[in-house]
Formats: sequence, C-alpha cells, structure tokens
Amino acid sequence: MRRKIFAGNWKMHKTAAESEGLARDVVEGLRAHPTSSEVVVCPTYVALDRVAAVLTGSPVLLGAQDMHWESQGAYTGKISADMLQAVGVTYVIIGHSEQRAYFHETDETVNRKARKALAGGILKPILCVGETLQERETGLMEKVIQTQIRGAYAGIAASEALHTVIAYEPVWAIGTGRNASPEQAQSVHFFIRELLASLYDRSVSEAVRIQYGGSLKPENALELLSQPDIDGGLIGGASLKADAFLGIIASS
Ligand code: PGA
Repeated sequence: MRRKIFAGNWKMHKTAAESEGLARDVVEGLRAHPTSSEVVVCPTYVALDRVAAVLTGSPVLLGAQDMHWESQGAYTGKISADMLQAVGVTYVIIGHSEQRAYFHETDETVNRKARKALAGGILKPILCVGETLQERETGLMEKVIQTQIRGAYAGIAASEALHTVIAYEPVWAIGTGRNASPEQAQSVHFFIRELLASLYDRSVSEAVRIQYGGSLKPENALELLSQPDIDGGLIGGASLKADAFLGIIASS
C-alpha cells in the first residue's frame, strides 16, 4: 500500500514572513486534523530557513523547487543539493514544466539533477512529467511521457528509484483551472507505472508514488485521488491557502 504524498508548490509566491505564516497554518491545521498522508511544502529558497524552523517537531516535510547538479562552484543564481539538505530540505521538485518551458530544462538536466539529489541519499526528487495540449491532441502524449521518464531515470539504480516520486502534470492543466478528468489522469498514471515496471520491475513500479498535478483543488480532489494509480498531488495555486491545501489532503 503506497502512502499518499501531497506537496505544496508555492512557486514564486510569498515573502519569507508570509511563507512562515502559511507554514504555521498548515502545521496547526494538521495538528487539529492529522493525516496518514505525507505532507511537504516547497517555499522559495529565501524562505526555506524560516519555514524549516516552523516545521520542526511537526510531521510536515520541507521541499525545494529546484537545484543544480553540481555541489558548488561558479554557477551564479544556483543552489546545490547539499545546501538544501543543510537547511533541512527532504524533497526537491525537478523538471517542473515551468522550468522546462522558461528556463531551458531538458530531460538531460533533469537526469543530472535527479542523480545528484539521490547520490548519497541527499534528497528525494519529485520528478515532473507532462504533455502539452498540442502533444495530446496530435497523439504524441505517450511518446512524450515515455521520453521524459526514460530520460529522468537514465543511470538510476532500482534502489535509488525507490526514493523518487513522479508528478504527472499535464501542462494544459497547470494554473488553468482545467484539471484532467479522473479517467484521463488514471490512464496516464497507469501508463507511467507500466513504464517503471519495464525500466525496473514490479516491486519498484508498485512502490513509486505518482502524484497528479494541475488545477487540483478541494472540489475535484476526491474523484482524482480515488483512482488506483494516483498517489497524491503536487499542488500549486490551491497550496497558497492553507484551507484549500488541507481540504485536498483531507479528501484523500
Ligand atoms: P496548479 O499548479 O495547482 O496551480 O495548477 C500545479 C503545479 O504547477 O505544480
């Protein structure tokens, strides 16, 4: 039985002080209504330290929104896995479609980052995949997802793959208010699980959690989260309000 995992992707929202407040609301909400799911919040880099302090002693884990694959060096503007780990980060989002669309993320850089995150058990990557509307409409969806998954996991051993999470986020559903239907999402999640079985084996494919992301909200969460291969969510807009984030978690 896979434990569901919910991650709030706060993107480029909220100052450090605002992030601290939101984290506190999430922690208090979960104290009042505990969940059996794993809960992660991913603030901006400058808020990590302050949010880490709020999360101490709570079951909520800290995540980051990206990382570089080198440990240190002349990479202006970048941050390393070791630095993230040092402030208490457990999970790191890698290959988000916004990174792919605006900041030249490729399957190769996703793979480099994932391998670095996993090396020596530093961080657990949340590996994002998803097709654009055009790719879906022209019948390329499975090929795109397959290429992204194969690329992300190149050179990653089965023992490491067990520490990864996949987020299936159809690009056309992100921030648009238009979510994938439960059937659409389930069929891609199933496809991804079969891919993992072919890359590794059944024990890996049955263990790796696959989140759905894209306009997830309390109103559509129950239907999506009750699908057999949907193991939680990567949540953008709705995670910026504690009530909505907690509402999604509570509906699982
Ligand atoms: P959304 O974003 O929930 O606002 O659609 C999801 C994401 O980009 O991770």
